[in-house]
Amino acid sequence: MFASVVLLVVAVLLLLLLSQTKRARNFPPGPRPIPIFGSLLQLSLENPLAALARLAKRYGNVYSIYIGPRPAIVLNGLVALKEALVDKASDFSGRPQDLLINHAVQIKAPRVILSDFNPGWTEHRRFGLMTLRNFGMGKQSMEKIILGQIPGVCDFYVMDIHFAGSDTTANTLLAAFLYLMNYPDIQERCQQEIDKVLNGKDQASFEDRYQMPNVQAVIHEIQRMANTVPLAVFHCTTKDRVYTLGYSIPRGTIIIPNLSSVLNEEGQWKSPHEFNPKNFLNDQGEFVKQEAFLPFSLSPRMCLGESLARMELFLTTVTLLRKFRFIWPEDAGELLDYTPVYGITQTPKPYCMKVQLRKTVPGQMLS
Ligand code: HEM
Repeated sequence: MFASVVLLVVAVLLLLLLSQTKRARNFPPGPRPIPIFGSLLQLSLENPLAALARLAKRYGNVYSIYIGPRPAIVLNGLVALKEALVDKASDFSGRPQDLLINHAVQIKAPRVILSDFNPGWTEHRRFGLMTLRNFGMGKQSMEKIILGQIPGVCDFYVMDIHFAGSDTTANTLLAAFLYLMNYPDIQERCQQEIDKVLNGKDQASFEDRYQMPNVQAVIHEIQRMANTVPLAVFHCTTKDRVYTLGYSIPRGTIIIPNLSSVLNEEGQWKSPHEFNPKNFLNDQGEFVKQEAFLPFSLSPRMCLGESLARMELFLTTVTLLRKFRFIWPEDAGELLDYTPVYGITQTPKPYCMKVQLRKTVPGQMLS
């Protein structure tokens, strides 16, 4: 008798759990979820990006998975991302509020990044942008700060802006030197361009980028390959029912913008899967912007520090390339591993690098 009651309770609980993870009609398709775990067992935690790409091949560019009992929609490819995050910007600009991470950082941080789409967020985002501008973002004074590495910037009491800005830029720079070291011919071409443009000048300025199409293309290509924030920060829907992409999506549904899927999307790039700065150069060797270049995401929630990050990446790369040659050490073996360590931000695996002072170039002062 007791055993039958236990079995009955277990069966009812299982049915309840199963009904929780049942897709509503007109909801994007996806793999069948398992009670409690949802789709988590189908996504390798070491490299969920490959699993997400496989699911896109099977279910199309808009599909759903379950994070535990919660449904989430994964958006892949430029068209789907634009249709949702730009055409229906305010409907898709929320942030899920009941994920573990919100509780983990609630006391100190959720002013901008994890804040929902509400007047509080608007105010804090405006304040964050204003504070960065007061520090000189987009102005020459910021160049001096970056070049002088004045520690005072640290990037300032809006803590989540500091967190968002430090890891991302540092990881992109780590990827930058890994690629430059392993493409010595590309590194040298950049150095020749830098020597020519900076001839006689003490320091680089952000304006110099217009005369450095190769350096610009290389930095953009590094960002494309580095894929530093592959799934952006999760969004969520803000209206009771959002109709888009042929689906009907209820309020609070998690939205995962798969930026990675755009950064290597076939049809968008000359070489979607290999490192090739020509992705950003036309036949005349001029730098060209690309619509699918979305490392900073898009929509009202796009990266608040984009201008600062671009400036930091340019000035740091140019200043270091001007002075040093970055070399793959002879004793480091032949096998190069570009596979990043997966996380909210991706970073290259630890690597060794030989740094050699370049011979003095006419007009260049080595300090
Ligand atoms: C290479 C460097 C960087 C990359 C690749 C990057 C990328 C991103 C991405 C993908 C997002 C999520 C956008 C979305 O939810 O759709 C984001 C958000 C954000 N980033 Fe960055 N970021 C970088 C540097 C910075 C810097 C330097 C700062 C600040 C100084 C910053 C501050 C922020 C903030 C505050 C948000 C949240 C915006 C919001 O929720 O309204 N980021 N970033």
